[in-house]
Amino acid sequence: MQRIFILTGAGISAESGLRTFRDADGLWEGHKVEEVATPEAFAANPELVHNFYNARRSQLLTVEPNLAHHALVQLQRKWGDRLTLVTQNVDDLHERAGMEKVMHMHGELLKQTCTNCGDVSDCADRMSIESQCEACGEIGCVRPHIVWFGEMPLLMDQIHSKLMQCELFISIGTSGVVYPAAGFAEEARRHGASLIEVNLEGTDISPIFDEHLQGAATDTVPELVKRLTDTL
Ligand code: APR
Repeated sequence: MQRIFILTGAGISAESGLRTFRDADGLWEGHKVEEVATPEAFAANPELVHNFYNARRSQLLTVEPNLAHHALVQLQRKWGDRLTLVTQNVDDLHERAGMEKVMHMHGELLKQTCTNCGDVSDCADRMSIESQCEACGEIGCVRPHIVWFGEMPLLMDQIHSKLMQCELFISIGTSGVVYPAAGFAEEARRHGASLIEVNLEGTDISPIFDEHLQGAATDTVPELVKRLTDTL
């Protein structure tokens, strides 16, 4: 059984009702990315950034995983530890579908980090400049557990080791423009993996893939999962 590495992006959650990042003239829910998704933005206007992520968090609680998230769970049930799922998404739709061991390289919307003590904890509510860290008691040090532009993605050592071992690399619903994730396909290819891209359209990095499955994730991902499990 091949070792499979799957990278997902905003496209897999689009049909659940979460907007992707690059489908609205560079605006993300009405904001420029640099106004809400950089450490500089948070330092300059923490209330705006908190409010932005508070809105994303409440929106997340109104949507559900879709057929693509569910199909990947079926794949994991067959493949077990030979399947690695890395997501750039900060939503919890993979987990709510039943996926285990999801590696969130860009953080998680339903978590908070304390900039004072480094504690990471669950947070399904609003965060504000008055929020208190439950671990150290400090007030005003809590921030969304999100990797902003200019910050180092999480779990990179584990991700690289899984990339070097995989025999099949599958990219689903990501535009392939944000690094380091955009470089994963090339890295897997250098180590001998076959590459499949699943997307509504071609991307900047489509040419390096062996196969491109064009279409909505809720159609293409279940089809791909069926194909893979039929070969067992
Ligand atoms: N099915 C399949 N693909 C889809 C669908 C769908 N229903 N809808 C959109 N897509 C594709 C788009 O064609 C696009 O290539 O999903 C991709 C979404 O691209 P982006 O919005 O750029 O999202 P992503 O690649 O996840 O962004 C990467 O950038 O803003 C940062 O940190 C943020 O994690 C994010 C990172």
